[in-house]
Amino acid sequence: MTQPVAYRAAIFYSLGDPAKVGLENSFAWHEDGVLVVADGHIQDVGPAPEVLNRLPAGTQVVELENRLITPGFIDTHIHFPQTEMIASYGDQLLDWLNNYTFPEERKFADPAHAARVAKLFLDELLRNGTTTAMVYGTVHPQAVDAFFTESERRNTRMIAGKVMMDRHAPEFLLDTPESSYADSKALIERWHNKGRQLYAVTPRFAPTSSPEQLDAAGRLLREHKDLYLQTHLSENRKEIAWVKELFPERSGYLDVYDHHGLLSERSIFAHSVHLEDGECERLHATGSGVSFCATSNLFLGSGLLDLARLERFDVNVSLGTDVGGGTSFSLLQTMNEAYKVLQLQQQKLHPLKAFYLATLGGAESLRLDDKLGNLLPGKEADFLVLDLNATALMHARTQNAQTLYEKLFVLMMLGDDRAIESTFVYGKCQHGKNGV
Ligand code: GUN
Ligand code: ZN
Repeated sequence: MTQPVAYRAAIFYSLGDPAKVGLENSFAWHEDGVLVVADGHIQDVGPAPEVLNRLPAGTQVVELENRLITPGFIDTHIHFPQTEMIASYGDQLLDWLNNYTFPEERKFADPAHAARVAKLFLDELLRNGTTTAMVYGTVHPQAVDAFFTESERRNTRMIAGKVMMDRHAPEFLLDTPESSYADSKALIERWHNKGRQLYAVTPRFAPTSSPEQLDAAGRLLREHKDLYLQTHLSENRKEIAWVKELFPERSGYLDVYDHHGLLSERSIFAHSVHLEDGECERLHATGSGVSFCATSNLFLGSGLLDLARLERFDVNVSLGTDVGGGTSFSLLQTMNEAYKVLQLQQQKLHPLKAFYLATLGGAESLRLDDKLGNLLPGKEADFLVLDLNATALMHARTQNAQTLYEKLFVLMMLGDDRAIESTFVYGKCQHGKNGV
């Protein structure tokens, strides 16, 4: 084992879903805590007096006064090629795709462009404290190679895939059932489980895939162990009506994916804001996950996700930014908007639930909770050093907060990239200060 390093600060992490275990049992909190890291993993964590007492002699202790350590954030839905088209004005989903998204994604045929944006994108994720994400590429396999190459260089645990899209998009972005199968298969062989990289089969959404292509996606999932599936589901009313027209033989939107074998414990359906009861039941029965993309659902005017209903159906939910439909890379800002989405439905998003969704909830949805999601010993050491006093306003408001819950709520409502002082990936500082 390499020499461990101990970080002394306040420490907070989730232990379970507050909706299932209750608020009090859902987290660990050490006001003066120590986190011990070696070989990319958490070795020890707990109250400072206890952990310092059992530290191996000579261990370096990094004192992080007035700082908070949390697990790295997990973003279960984001598009790396849309980084430079975030904040595109005026349209809802289908027009936004045609007017802004497809022309932007065309640029990723050029591997040099893809490599440059992959760097910018990963810089931005880490600046915002996101250490794991489920990421869309474009239809171009070379863009996915560029993304994984950059992620591997930083040793981030990322899940990504090549978009499969063989109809209802401009000619320059289309593949075929056969080419999408072959290109995806080659990428799976190159990247799935290579170091920390993982692959997601990625049919864009039902309208842009023929039944033959959805079959090819199902075949890929059957042929490889532990592959992920990411797609979009029931985001926008016009989109849903179009899916019903295109697939009249299916009972609804989710059934299109179900029919082709795309529902599984490693499947994440972004948005899912207009679901039928039967669809909620099917998501639960198959262990599939929903990515709640609050900033995107508001920006594109798509609708409001009903979290209480998904809790009643016991569907796995996590948070996604959905950049560039979403308007921020920050999961703190995504919690802020999720809070407002739920307020509009007379629901409350408790800060413990919000932080659970952005960390352990994401890890559970992705079946990575044996490796990620909190700071228990044995997990991979992806963690953040936060500054709750990062801005004058945050400082003033935090001073005026009495309880942990209140401080976390201030952090999720006022915090953004400025609160992320440093981001550690597999035990190594990949953004900000405190590198050792
Ligand atoms: N549905 C199909 N493609 C997309 C996309 O790129 N973004 C969002 N938000 N929804 C989609
Ligand atoms: Zn999306």
